[in-house]
Amino acid sequence: MAAPTILVTGGAGFIGSNFIRYLLAETDVRIVNLDALTYAGNLASLADCLDSERHLFVRGSITSADLVAYLLKQHAVDGIINFAAESHVDRSILGPKVFVETNVQGTLTLLSAAREAGVRRFLQVSTDEVYGSLGDQGFFTEETPLSPNSPYSASKASADLLVRAFHHTFGLDTVTTRCSNNYGPYQFPEKLIPLIIMNARQNKALPVYGDGLNVRDWLYVGDHCSAIWTAFSKGRAGAVYNIGGNSERTNLDVIRTILQQVGKPESLITFVKDRPGHDRRYAIDASRIQAELGWRPAVDFETAMARTVRWYLDHQPWLDQVASGDYQTYYQTLYGNRGRA
Ligand code: NAD
Ligand code: TYD
Repeated sequence: MAAPTILVTGGAGFIGSNFIRYLLAETDVRIVNLDALTYAGNLASLADCLDSERHLFVRGSITSADLVAYLLKQHAVDGIINFAAESHVDRSILGPKVFVETNVQGTLTLLSAAREAGVRRFLQVSTDEVYGSLGDQGFFTEETPLSPNSPYSASKASADLLVRAFHHTFGLDTVTTRCSNNYGPYQFPEKLIPLIIMNARQNKALPVYGDGLNVRDWLYVGDHCSAIWTAFSKGRAGAVYNIGGNSERTNLDVIRTILQQVGKPESLITFVKDRPGHDRRYAIDASRIQAELGWRPAVDFETAMARTVRWYLDHQPWLDQVASGDYQTYYQTLYGNRGRA
């Protein structure tokens, strides 16, 4: 049987580019990569994948119904894996509209096209943020009610509900994965870990929102890629799978780990005004994907963080490129008037 063809959307972003590299190395699938190349998408993140005859890059939006329909037909696409999204909470606070356009409208466009073209499986890459925030105890399971708090997580939860509806109403074969915070190579330096590495390296202030005791469950991006491929290949139609790293850390813990690895002083830590509506704690119960599909994370936090910090120190030209232009304006808008806490 011929190798399947998968439409990967958002494949020039952080997780998508890691996933395309993973597919090229670990499988024989053919990839059509649809990405709009927003500020977060970068072909430099795919430099070693662009020559592969199994990877076709197409610049365009998941909101373009005609383009999506054309690609599904032209390439006889078997499955869709949807990473494309506006992904940053702080940007969703500054301007929520594009989050609805891309994350909700774009997902609806893909689902409708998938149904029309008879695509065999649709995997939606979602987030644990759809569940809201936890106190000191407990974990999100797949049965935890959706309770999103930011415009970003509200748009992702809306997309999840559309995926659910397309399965229940139209019988589309869907799988939804909800993962915790990812880290690793090629992450845009608006997110905590690459931002802290970049600022620390330049001896710049490290902005910590609130008291720095918010907790995230950190997942190495390579482990996330293997989980998505497992869920896509073996998951039950209509199922939701949580994906986590078993690595809960406070933001201050994460920052101190980075500072040790880059050899910079804790005096760079600067407490700034908190993010509005800041979720306190995320923690994932990933026992379903482990019990049903046999997936579990392969690397521990300390090993993968050391590897990640090393990667950023060794890839300064990549960081310089993505942090040029609009990034400086964004940084000034978000942090310029934030002041100290
Ligand atoms: P990212 O912001 O790094 O990349 C998003 C990609 O989508 C970019 O390449 C961008 O150009 C592309 N894109 C944006 N709008 C588009 C459009 N209209 N049409 C086509 N492409 C478009 O995001 P990421 O961190 O790689 O996240 C990927 C997915 O994983 C997202 O759906 C996000 O919600 C989800 N997720 C991410 C994390 C995380 O920690 N990064 C955690 C949970 C879930
Ligand atoms: P982020 O990487 O934006 O991911 P998310 O908000 O989706 O979890 O932020 C991770 C945590 O780090 C979150 O609690 C907010 C905090 N944070 C800071 O303290 N300072 C910063 O400059 C950023 C970007 C995040």
